[in-house]
Amino acid sequence: MVNPILKTNLNYPLLHRGKVRDVYDLEENLLLVSSDRLSAFDVVFNEGIPRKGEVLTQLSLFWFEKTKHIIKNHLVNNFPKDFPEEMKKRSVIGVKTKPVKLECIVRGYLTGSGWKSYQKDGTICGIKLPLNLKNGSKLPEPIFTPTTKAEQGHDQDVTEDKAIEIVGQKTFDFVKRKSIELYSFAEEYARSKGLILADTKFEFGEYNGEIILIDEALTPDSSRYWLKSDYDKGKLLSLDKQFARDYLETLNWDKKPPAPPLPEEIIEKTSKRYLQAYNFLTGKNL
Ligand SMILES: Nc1ncnc2c1ncn2[C@@H]1O[C@H](COP(=O)(O)OP(=O)(O)OP(=O)(O)O)[C@@H](O)[C@H]1O
Ligand SMILES: [Mg+2]
Repeated sequence: MVNPILKTNLNYPLLHRGKVRDVYDLEENLLLVSSDRLSAFDVVFNEGIPRKGEVLTQLSLFWFEKTKHIIKNHLVNNFPKDFPEEMKKRSVIGVKTKPVKLECIVRGYLTGSGWKSYQKDGTICGIKLPLNLKNGSKLPEPIFTPTTKAEQGHDQDVTEDKAIEIVGQKTFDFVKRKSIELYSFAEEYARSKGLILADTKFEFGEYNGEIILIDEALTPDSSRYWLKSDYDKGKLLSLDKQFARDYLETLNWDKKPPAPPLPEEIIEKTSKRYLQAYNFLTGKNL
């Protein structure tokens, strides 16, 4: 296996180091470099997952291309002249936008935090759902369940009224409509490739008076994909971090930092799993 890249140190001003990506300032543009860092339960691990950053970047590029008939995106393809060749496959350059202050989550299936919320009071983000749904149930139609973009701490679910208060009616209507359109398109496509896209998150930004798709799109880090063959057997195994999560559940770990070490076997399986996601969706090997 190749060595994972845990941290990048490129020769541009570093704006931000996220859990997974390092963001650099290229004046008019932003450079988003996906490292091989793995986060699970919001904790970043000491070990990396070889090639994960490459998979995330290449899948984002794949989906940006496939969805450009639905909405414009932030991609620009001009790497600076001195840009290190080996970093290109894990890097995306986007125009700098003014981000819309919502994480635009769409759910076609009930699971994860949506399932938790439903179990409490039968709703997600104030949307009333049918009775008797189970973890993994397909929803009658995709729902828009935005959260705040918290600078610190966890993002919070918001109701439609609250979301409108944050971004305004016009922007809300637009990002809601586009998010559902994008999800529905990707869900159908993924299903034709043997995957269920249970839910996903989009981010939008304003550029020259227009709202465009930014950040990453429909990657295993921003989405929950299940193998259709697993789903049909009643198993809800997400295609990305499930090996790591399952392993962590066998430990007596409180899900708080510091992260426990990940065994070599789990790292290798997780890396293969990311590559498999790429293969399923694109029909190609990376
Ligand atoms: N074109 C763009 N214009 C402005 N901001 C952008 C653009 N594309 C992405 N961003 C912002 O870049 C940031 C990426 O950093 P972020 O902290 O999300 O990294 P991450 O590795 O995804 O970590 P996390 O797991 O915490 O989300 C986000 O705040 C996102 O809104
Ligand atoms: Mg992010």
